[in-house]
Order: sequence, then C-alpha cells, then structure tokens
Amino acid sequence: MPQTTSSTPPEHVAIIMDGNGRWAQQRGLPRIEGHRRGVETVRAVTDAGRELGLRTLTLYAFSVENWNRPQDEVGALMGLLEYYLKKELNTFIKNRIRLRTIGRTNELPAGVQKHLDHTIEATKAFTDYTLVLALNYGSRTEIVDAAKAYAQAVAAGEIAADDTSWGTFNRFLYTAGLPDPDLIIRTSGEERLSNFLLMQGAYAELVFTPVLWPDFNKEHLATAIAEYGRRERRFGKTSAQVQAPVPTS
Ligand code: IPE
Ligand code: IPE
Ligand code: MG
Repeated sequence: MPQTTSSTPPEHVAIIMDGNGRWAQQRGLPRIEGHRRGVETVRAVTDAGRELGLRTLTLYAFSVENWNRPQDEVGALMGLLEYYLKKELNTFIKNRIRLRTIGRTNELPAGVQKHLDHTIEATKAFTDYTLVLALNYGSRTEIVDAAKAYAQAVAAGEIAADDTSWGTFNRFLYTAGLPDPDLIIRTSGEERLSNFLLMQGAYAELVFTPVLWPDFNKEHLATAIAEYGRRERRFGKTSAQVQAPVPTS
C-alpha cells in the first residue's frame, strides 16, 4: 500500500473547476464570460502544475450531468473546448505535455473529437507530465462502462470468473494506467464531489477553497499542496505505524 509522509509531494492532483458562472454573474456578465476566463485559468494552472513538480494533473471540465444545462451554454462550452484544443497544441508540444482524456468522449461533437484525437496522438510520447481532461465524465457511467467491459472479458475467458481483485477490475476504468489522485481540490466553496473520481479518490486528500475558478492561480495551487503536506495519510493504518513503518519482511 503506498504511503506518503508530509514531505512527499503529491504526484497526481485532480481539480473540480467550479465557479465560472458565479464569477461572471458577480460582474454582471453572461455565464459564458466566466467560462472564457476559466479557459485562461486552465492554461495558467497547467503550467503551474508542471512548475510545482506534479506528474499528473486532472481537470474536471465537463460532467455527464452538464448536458442538462441550457443548450446555448452547452454549445458555447463545446465551442470553447475546440478553440482551446486548437490553440494549445503548440504549447503542449513545446512544454512536452501529454494529453489524455477520461469520459465518454465518443459522445462529444465531431470537431472536438477530431482535435482531441490529434492532440493525444501528437503528445503521446511525452512522459514527464500528463494533463488529463475529464470530458463527458461521470464516475457512475465509468463504473457501468467498466463493468460491461469486464463482463465481456470474463465471458471471453480473458479473466477468471472468480478473480475478485480491485487490481484486475480497475484496468477497465477510464483511468487505466494512471495513478490514483493524491489530492482533489474543488474551487468555489462547494464541498462535494459531483460524480468525480469516486473510486480513484478513495484515499485522496480533499481540499476545498472558496476561490472561484477564474481567480484560481499558481499560489492557490501551491497553498492546497502545502495543506496536503500537513495531512497524515494512513491508508487504514495507525498514526504510529505511518510515522515509524515496521518492516513487513
Ligand atoms: C464550472 O463552473 C464549469 C463547468 C461546470 C463546466 P460553473 O459553470 O459550474 O460555475 P457555477 O457553479 O455556476 O458558478
Ligand atoms: C462539477 O461542477 C462539474 C465540473 C466542474 C465540470 P458542477 O457545477 O456541474 O457541479 P454541481 O452541479 O454544482 O454539483
Ligand atoms: Mg458549478
């Protein structure tokens, strides 16, 4: 079981980017202006994560439930996503950022899918830093998709029917091959997970900040990481065991 002490920085930080709409409303602007500013924050925080030594940064950009928003807002979000992908490709390559996605991306507009495929292909060789965009993501649909694929693998004889290990099952999640998040941050003062990484975040530290996503910056990220550093991650053990690990062999 992995362990961290306060001196071990997080490898994987996941962020629920929330508060774009409120940021705009506070200024008497349409919600989409908040999303536009939110894209600028995505750029800045992606850089900040790399500079702060993270290996993986996951950003919750669009949930399965977000399709239920007004059609013009959904359309504008998809337009922004396509614009962002087009504009960022060169930066991803220059800064050696690998792009990955989690979620049912096959249900996104064709133009978005095209740019996603292209960027993922163009950045697949980079190994130091991975940006994971959660798009049309929901933990419940992820589990349903994983269970379906798992059942098919059992039926095909690729997995023993009596294999009950999490390690076998989790290879069917969208996050296959990614480490679990060490730290999940949510902006905007809401204190809930909204269907985000419910399985993978089983032992994540949670940090909630009142800062609205368009205002979130490198300093706020560093503050959340410092807060993470003050937590004791016990993974079911006692505090004494974690502080002075007893050799098991
Ligand atoms: C987060 O900001 C962006 C998305 C969910 C796409 P919101 O749009 O949820 O902002 P609030 O919560 O309404 O302020
Ligand atoms: C969660 O934010 C989804 C994303 C950040 C993409 P929401 O704003 O959609 O969450 P709820 O509806 O307030 O829980
Ligand atoms: Mg919100």
